[in-house]
Order: sequence, then C-alpha cells, then structure tokens
Amino acid sequence: MSSSTETMEKIVALCRRRGFIFGSSEIYGGIGGFWDYGPLGCELKKNIKDCWWNDMVRNPPPGPNGTEYQMVGVDCSIIMNPKVWEASGHVGGFQDPMVACKAEGCRKLFRADQAWLVGFYSRDDFNRLQDHDRELVDRIAPLLKKSDKELSELADDEGLSDDFLLQLNESIFEVKTGMSARLPTITIGVEAGNQVEAMNTAASRLTRHQRDKQLHTLNIRKAYSLAEAPKDWPRRCPVCNATGTLTEPREFNLMFETNIGALQDSTSKAYLRPETAQGIFANFKNVMDSTRVKIPFGIAQIGKAFRNEINPRNYTFRSREFEQMEIEFFCWPDTSMMWYEFWRDVRIKWYESLGIHSDKLRPREQGDDELAHYSDACTDIEYLFPFSEETQELEGVAHRGDFDLSAHGKASKGKENAFAVVNDETKERLVPHVIEPSAGVDRFTLAAITEAYSFDENRASPEFMKFHPRLAPIKAAVFPLVAKDGMPDIAEPIYNEIRKHLPCQYDAKQSIGKRYARMDEAGTPFCFTIDGQSKEDGTVTVRNRDDASQDRIDKSRCLEYLRDKLGL
Ligand code: GAP
Repeated sequence: MSSSTETMEKIVALCRRRGFIFGSSEIYGGIGGFWDYGPLGCELKKNIKDCWWNDMVRNPPPGPNGTEYQMVGVDCSIIMNPKVWEASGHVGGFQDPMVACKAEGCRKLFRADQAWLVGFYSRDDFNRLQDHDRELVDRIAPLLKKSDKELSELADDEGLSDDFLLQLNESIFEVKTGMSARLPTITIGVEAGNQVEAMNTAASRLTRHQRDKQLHTLNIRKAYSLAEAPKDWPRRCPVCNATGTLTEPREFNLMFETNIGALQDSTSKAYLRPETAQGIFANFKNVMDSTRVKIPFGIAQIGKAFRNEINPRNYTFRSREFEQMEIEFFCWPDTSMMWYEFWRDVRIKWYESLGIHSDKLRPREQGDDELAHYSDACTDIEYLFPFSEETQELEGVAHRGDFDLSAHGKASKGKENAFAVVNDETKERLVPHVIEPSAGVDRFTLAAITEAYSFDENRASPEFMKFHPRLAPIKAAVFPLVAKDGMPDIAEPIYNEIRKHLPCQYDAKQSIGKRYARMDEAGTPFCFTIDGQSKEDGTVTVRNRDDASQDRIDKSRCLEYLRDKLGL
C-alpha cells in the first residue's frame, strides 16, 4: 500500500471516529455517493461557507486598479422550471458516455472515460514490432525533429489530408515512445480517474497474472479509456475481468429526475438542479430591477446540487449530492478578460489564505481544445489529494462570454438580447459577459481535512488536525484539571465568557492527556487548563495544539489571548 493511500485511510478513519463525516444511512448498509457530516464536520463546512460568503460577498477584495464593483447574494429553489435546463443545455448535453458489464453477477456501470484498458506487450513482441517498423522509423526520422506547427505547414504545402497527418502523428508517437497501438499480449481492465493511475493499478494487477500464468516479463504498456480504446483490443470488464461482456458506450444524463404533483407523466417531469448557477441567471433581471447594482457586479449563491454520477469515488470528492459556492460576475465584454484574471487570482489567494499550501494547489489553465465553444478562458484550481498522484479540480474559474444570458433570453423571451443592459457611458445596449468562479464546498472541506491532517509519533497523541484558525470547528476548550477543589468554579465562568463569542467546549472528564488528545483530533487550536496554581495566583495554562507548548496567563485574559492568537 502506498503511503498516500495509507494516509487517506487514516484520514477516513479519523473522520468517522471523531464525527467529521459518516456514510449516509449507514444503519441500512449505506448508499453510494451520499455522505452525512457529523458534529465536527458540519461546523467545519459551515466555517468554509461563512468564510466564502464573508470574503466574496460581504467584504470582497478591491477590484483591479481600484475598479468599483458590487456583490449580492441569492438563495434559489432546487427544483426549477424544466425549461431552464433545456435552455442551459443540460437536458441535451449534460451527459456522460457509459458502459455496462452484462456478465451475470457483475452488472456494473462505468463512465467510459474512467474505465481503462491497459495493454501490456512482452519484450519479444516489442522487438518484433521494432524490426517491422524499422522502415517506418527511417521514413519518418527526419520529421521527428519538426514541431507540430512545421508539420502542419508541410501538410498544407503538400496538400496532405488530415487523416494522413493523424496517422503520421500516431507513427511518430509510436517511434518516440516505443509503444504501439497494435494488439498487446495481455489486456487488463481497470477503473481510474486518469491514465497514469490506470497504468499503475493495472501494473499491480499484472503481478498477480504473472504469478498465476507465468507470463514473460511484460514491461511495455499503453492505456486507453473505453471511450477511445482500439476496436480490436480485448475489452475486459474493469471489475470482473470478463471479455466480450461490455456494452458500447451510451450517453447517460446526469440529472436526477422527479415529478411535480400527483400525476406522473411527461408534463410533470422536473429535475433536481445539477448546479446552482442557473438559478442566478434566471434571476439576473429580478436582481437588477430590485436592487441598485450596476455592471460590473456579481451574484453569489451557496447551495445543494445533485448529479447522478455513474461512479461516485474518492470519498466525498465525487458525490451525488454536494454543495457549491458559485459566483456569476457580470461585466462589459471589453473588460471581461481583466475580470477573469482578477477572479482567478482572487480565488487562488483565498485558498492560500485558509492554509492550503501553494505547492499542493495547482491552477491549470485549460488548453484551447478543452474550452467550451463559447468560452475564452478557464482555469481549473486543482489540489493534490492523497488519493491520487495527479492534482484534482477544487474549483473552476470560467469565462462564459454571453452564452447563458443569451440562451435564457432566447428561450424565455424569444430574443437573444432580451437581457441586454445599457452602458451609461457608451450608451450601447449589450448582453453582459460572465465570469464564473464555481467552487465545491465538499471538495474544499476534504482538502482542508487532508491539509490539516498531521502525524507526529513523538507526541502522546500522534494524530492531530492543524486547521487554519478560521476553519477550526472548535476554537478553544476549557478544562478544570480535576472536577473538584474549586477548579470548576474558576473554569466555568471562563468557558461561559468564551462561548458567547467563539465555539468552545468544556471538558472535565478523564485524564488531561486524553482531553488534549480529543481536542488535537478535533483540531482545536488552544486549550485552557485550570489547576491548583490557578486558585493561588489566578493564572491558567494555555496549551498550543501545533507544538504542544504551554503558556501561563491571567484567567481574565483568556478571550483576549484567543482573539489575538487566532486573529479573529
Ligand atoms: N456552474 C459550473 C459548474 O457547475 P462544474 O465544474 O461542473 O461547474 C463546479 O462544478 C465545482 O463543483 C467543481 O469544481 C467541484 O468543486 C464541484 N463538483 C462538481 N461535481 C461534483 C461532485 N460530483 N461531487 C462533489 N463536488 C462536485
């Protein structure tokens, strides 16, 4: 087991033991892709949402070059008129290609882009391929030195077809990497989030195959998702490993359907929203008409979203019910790139300000081939979770152009420019452009948990959670060393004063070591202990979670000390 898999298992165990996260309806065997947050988890999640609302809506950072802008919030219904989802493209387009295994006893469903075929070639096969390809190698060797741009110019000059270029690229790939798309000696089916993970998982399964079947050493491999695998490769089920039992990839809509009212027919069909964004677009005009906002301004919303994910995976990372924190920021087209860059940078800095280390946070600008047709730019803010070797998306910051407002204008009012706004300076009437920072509450909660998880075998309680002070579910604990000798009489007023202002717990049970350990696992930054000396000189001990160091302060200064140290 790799050390990061081990870390992930320890984190999951701690989350369960200490009441951060439970599987939903566990008493009935659970339900895939749904999670419940326990007492500590729901405080943590609430702190995340409060920080976001406070820092993005109530007190947003200054605009680029001091430009003024406003931020307001909405809280829309989860079920909306189904026409919303037709206009937004979710009814026709929000789907994943899916394959099913028809084998008796398996009957699993997979996302075709997350189920992989990994082909292994024996060294002998590979050498034969190389002999066979020698002629090819000689022919394309001079082309290998050329860049993609030069190759495409060459193709244009010589009137070569796109097909030829594709073949050429494949040959160049084969020669450069020493791999071939031709039939491998053995194919292994695996489920994985990406190609590297697929190759590694298949390699560990291969060891078993080699032991059982005594195959020669196979060390050349190539992976294709089931959406792209060569037709002649044996298609193995990633779970039961049977061949010939997988269906062709089919489209599967991710929206959960429901019915409104007593009759269930096509007119009563509705959907649970798969994103909070559309509620904002549908209320764009209401907000403009009912408030004094002027472009540029943003509308924010925090709320539940639902997606019938085919393979919920990696703990809460890909769930079927989750929460989003989304901003739709409306600006004039000619300033939209400036606002895109502004929000991208603001959002990255926000994660850093809450203790996410920059070396695990990797913004990834999407390439032109990944961008939606209406989008000029998009950055995925990714984080290196312990369950994967590749960074994974925490948030997307997308430039959406005028796509959404125009689509809703056309579908609801018959005119693409129905939601156009007059620019007071230029007097032009334009459909505003939109910049959309869209974050997942559950993904950031998981990132905050994995970032906070710390292990130090030299401590009495080796596992502790180093949450950023703003995120810590409990900010302080108050302990009378023993529940007698007048100590509770000093401890209780301190506790009562702190809890009026900050989440605080009182604990008088078990040894002081056990009480510290409980608070360390909850990530509580400071514990105040009232001991024999407190009665004599009015001082108490403060223990710091991160280095277990202790200070002695006057009992009247506890709240002030906390505020000062936590910066709250
Ligand atoms: N309005 C744009 C939108 O919804 P998205 O990339 O599909 O874009 C935005 O989702 C964010 O929502 C993601 O970056 C992620 O944090 C979160 N998210 C999406 N699907 C999720 C899932 N199945 N489980 C948990 N979080 C999810």
